[in-house]
Amino acid sequence: MDLQSARNETVKEDEGGNRGGGKAAVKRRHEEEEEQTSSTKVLDHSVKVASHYNSLQEVGLAARSRSRIFFMRNFNNWLKSILIGEVLEQVRGAGPQQVSVLDLGCGKGGDLLKWRRGGIHHLVCADIAAVSVDQCQSRYEDMKKKSHVNEKIFSAQFINADCTKV
Ligand SMILES: C[S@@+](CC[C@H](N)C(=O)[O-])C[C@H]1O[C@@H](n2cnc3c(N)ncnc32)[C@H](O)[C@@H]1O
Repeated sequence: MDLQSARNETVKEDEGGNRGGGKAAVKRRHEEEEEQTSSTKVLDHSVKVASHYNSLQEVGLAARSRSRIFFMRNFNNWLKSILIGEVLEQVRGAGPQQVSVLDLGCGKGGDLLKWRRGGIHHLVCADIAAVSVDQCQSRYEDMKKKSHVNEKIFSAQFINADCTKV
C-alpha cells in the first residue's frame, strides 16, 4: 500500500468507517510498510557500496602518482601511519604485547604495511566488497612471501561481510 492509500484509509475511518480494525490497525500497517521500505533501502545501499568498491581497479604506483588526489592520499596515509603508531603504543603501554587488530572496511589492504610496521600479532580484515577482500588476501600472502625469513609477519583472517550487521 502506498502512502496515499494509507492516507485514504485513515480518511475513511475519520468519516466513520471501520475497515481493517480501526485507527490502530491502520497505524500499525503504515508503520510496517515504512519499516519494509527502509530495510529495502538499506539493502540497496549496501549492494551499491559493495559493487562500487568491487568495480574499482587496482592500479600500479605509476598510475596512482598521476591521480588528482595523489598528494591528499599521501597525506592521509601519513596521518594514518602516525595514528596507528600512537594507538599501538598506547595499547602496548596498557598491557598486552601481542596486539590483535580488527580492520573494519579493510578494502584492498592499503594498511597492511602499516600493520606490519606496527609489529602486530594478528589481523582480522573485514569488508563488504568481496573482490577487495580477495585482493587484500593476495596482497597479504605476497607480502608474507617476499618478507625476510627472520621477520615474523602477523597472522591474518579475511572476512567478506557488511560490518554494520555483524
Ligand atoms: C575508503 S575505502 C578504505 C579502504 C582501506 N581501509 C584503506 O584505507 O585502503 C572504504 C572501505 O570500506 C568498505 N565498506 C563500506 N561500507 C562497509 C560496510 N558496511 N561493511 C564493511 N565494509 C564497508 C568499502 O568496501 C571500502 O573498501
